[in-house]
Amino acid sequence: MFGNHNLDVSQNGSFSEKVKTGTEPEDPDLLKLLDRPRSLNIERQRSCEQGELSVGISPCRGDIFDYVFSPGRSGFNTPRVDNGFEAHPVVAEAWEALRRSLVYFRGQPVGTIAALDNSEENLNYDQVFVRDFVPSALAFLMNGEPEIVKNFILKTLRLQSWEKKIDRFQLGEGVMPASFKVLHDPVRNHETLIADFGESAIGRVAPVDSGFWWIILLRAYTKSTGDTSLAERPECQKGMRLILSLCLSEGFDTFPTLLCADGCCMIDRRMGVYGYPIEIQALFFMALRCAMILLKQDMEGKEFVERIVKRLHALSYHMRSYFWIDLKQLNDIYRYKTEEYSHTAVNKFNVIPDSFPDWVFDFMPTRGGYFVGNVSPARMDFRWFCLGNCIAILSSLATPEQSTAIMDLIESRWEELVGEMPLKVCYPAIFNHEWKITTGCDPKNTRWSYHNGGTWPVLLWLLTAACIKTGRPQIARRAIELAETRLLKDNWPEYYDGKSGRYIGKQARKFQTWSVAGYLVAKMMLEDPSHLGMVSIEEDKQLKPLMKRSNSWAL
Ligand code: GLC
Repeated sequence: MFGNHNLDVSQNGSFSEKVKTGTEPEDPDLLKLLDRPRSLNIERQRSCEQGELSVGISPCRGDIFDYVFSPGRSGFNTPRVDNGFEAHPVVAEAWEALRRSLVYFRGQPVGTIAALDNSEENLNYDQVFVRDFVPSALAFLMNGEPEIVKNFILKTLRLQSWEKKIDRFQLGEGVMPASFKVLHDPVRNHETLIADFGESAIGRVAPVDSGFWWIILLRAYTKSTGDTSLAERPECQKGMRLILSLCLSEGFDTFPTLLCADGCCMIDRRMGVYGYPIEIQALFFMALRCAMILLKQDMEGKEFVERIVKRLHALSYHMRSYFWIDLKQLNDIYRYKTEEYSHTAVNKFNVIPDSFPDWVFDFMPTRGGYFVGNVSPARMDFRWFCLGNCIAILSSLATPEQSTAIMDLIESRWEELVGEMPLKVCYPAIFNHEWKITTGCDPKNTRWSYHNGGTWPVLLWLLTAACIKTGRPQIARRAIELAETRLLKDNWPEYYDGKSGRYIGKQARKFQTWSVAGYLVAKMMLEDPSHLGMVSIEEDKQLKPLMKRSNSWAL
């Protein structure tokens, strides 16, 4: 069941993942990363390969239970493992909190609630959010409980086929919901689902990220369980094609990046992330790569794969060339001429160096770099965004050199990006006049709070995965240790405020599920780096940049 997987890059640059039953380690380099051997867990996973997994009775359960303590399942209260790893007491509490957040539909677990905080008004925190469920799903997959993930994938797929209307306008067929909830009708003793595609959301923006996360999760499920039958189902194949149709359609675009409205992703309020935000571009890239692995090579599938290959080439070229910045690149563009016309233009987007913010010149370390927040005509948003940069590493949108540089930057700007609690959603905060203009005077997004330079514990899992992929587990360990000093004591806040993330967020929910799950995933991944394969894709040699990154704009 828990097959070893390999990523094959075929001659024409397409990918295929094969479930392998052989015994060689998945990625020998990964083994070197941690100071501890992971052999025991791998052996256990192998022993499950012939077994069947289902919620309730799993032949693998006993084995995996020894490895990761999960109180909800067992009733034991002494976490222990056989490989020398003593589970942290916070881990046990986290599992309990995660299990309390389970949402059932007609007797089956289908997701986890966003937050279990009764002290605040519910708003939509009583819903299952697609993006919020991802770390929960990964935690369950890592713990050998794939059934809830499968249920979630199938339920959200059903929601996708709903007719979606805002006022009199119909949304694209492929749009996945931001969130859903279960309605109980006590009179008829009946349960129904209701979903939000943006028509109820504050700001009425459809979530562009949901469809991408859905594809990414489908691949994580497939990779983790070795069960290819779910992704092969006609309805899953169709669901993927519908999502892809939305973002691969041709139009007026001159860039391969995806144009979107403000607030269509994790940052779901007006924060100046409209246009071509890094979060969406990185998720787009990752989802395309996952879809290529999962799509069947039938008539329809083949056509999509061809379109994906073309888009991936253009997208990686664009992102690696124009979104990438390091000291040399910053210096080059700082000296750019403007108002150039024709194909020979060096400053293609006519970005005016006077518009560059002062902070970026101090922030840029001598060693290191990152993908900037946004690039569009005459506009570069230099803010550093955590999610986009981590996904760029995991999807191999970033070249190995760029991935290393992103980690170098995190290390050398630790005070700014981590401080007392991991991890800033973006850096730096905007304030005063700029805050007024950019957020529309949003009182929730004041400086160093919430989406405006706030600190989000959920990002810990992304940081950890990126650390493991780049061979820097010690950075993740440091961040996890910081989180462990406070998360449980503070009742798993949604976010922290302040320049160094010292204060529980002004309006932060407590018992925020993705803060809990993000911690668990980080912890489990660090303990067993083979889990990384679920959320990471190796570099496609065919997508190698043709240029050196420092003079990329000039090409
Ligand atoms: C907030 C966050 C969003 C999250 C939701 C549920 O709206 O901005 O990213 O999905 O809460 O937790």
